[in-house]
Amino acid sequence: MKTITVPEDMQKTALDLRRAGKRIGLVPTMGFLHEGHLSLVKLARQQADVVVLSIFVNPTQFGPNEDFSRYPRNFERDAALCQAAGVDIIFNPAPEAMYPAGYSVYVEENVLAKGLCGASRPGHFRGVLTVVAKLFNLVLPDVAVFGQKDAQQARLIQQMAHNLNFPIAILLAPIIRESNGLAMSSRNAYLAPAERREALCLQQALKTARRLYRAGERDARRIIAAMQAGIEQIPSARVDYIAIVDHDTLQPVAQLDTPVLVALAVSIGKTRLIDNLALPEDGLSHLPAMK
Ligand code: PAF
Repeated sequence: MKTITVPEDMQKTALDLRRAGKRIGLVPTMGFLHEGHLSLVKLARQQADVVVLSIFVNPTQFGPNEDFSRYPRNFERDAALCQAAGVDIIFNPAPEAMYPAGYSVYVEENVLAKGLCGASRPGHFRGVLTVVAKLFNLVLPDVAVFGQKDAQQARLIQQMAHNLNFPIAILLAPIIRESNGLAMSSRNAYLAPAERREALCLQQALKTARRLYRAGERDARRIIAAMQAGIEQIPSARVDYIAIVDHDTLQPVAQLDTPVLVALAVSIGKTRLIDNLALPEDGLSHLPAMK
């Protein structure tokens, strides 16, 4: 396994690999890796000869009052996990190398990015799409793998790849959960033990939605109200949004008659967490069995 830090070196290596006929798989991450990331590596391994995992805490996707400076970082631990998982190249550029002085070009999507996390994190998806487009141009992957936990992000990247004609297959990997059902996230590291228990209210809310759906309920407002009522039982929980949106357009639906995404963002103390469930279930969410 080798580590590349200079963007031009990454691009040259990628060009050499492609000339040699190798298929490149990219797993973009912000580091502080967990089993969710390693499942993306596994999928990339199945699809490519060479797996590149990028570690870059991307400053442009954090708002001014967000957690950029305190976002958890541990390169040595990440490198050991990558080595064990069979990553071939870690791409770990410095912020100044990705955004040198005078940098001024950004990628913006103006429909899918408006709601859900886009509404409460202005500029977030502009930063995500910009860095992912740059990674695509530097790593030149045939296939790139993203997690379904960030469902809106995944949908936006698919849209960008399609609209901007990137010749890259975008693969989505299922949500990976801790043994208690909490969706894996690097930000779970912020949670104190009591908050970890309280954070289970997100998946409980999704289970409520699934139970009602299985019982035949199709009214989005009634399902959202039941989810909200459960979360309100947890004093430290503050709902950012609970939404039921069309699976493809991400527009809110009144009735669950077509494939939808039930998505929510909830802060537990100072930690903002997200989770989601597709209905009918499509295997990407892997919500634990009903309780
Ligand atoms: O999901 C993430 O970790 C980030 O948003 C990504 C896709 C690596 C872009 O910085």
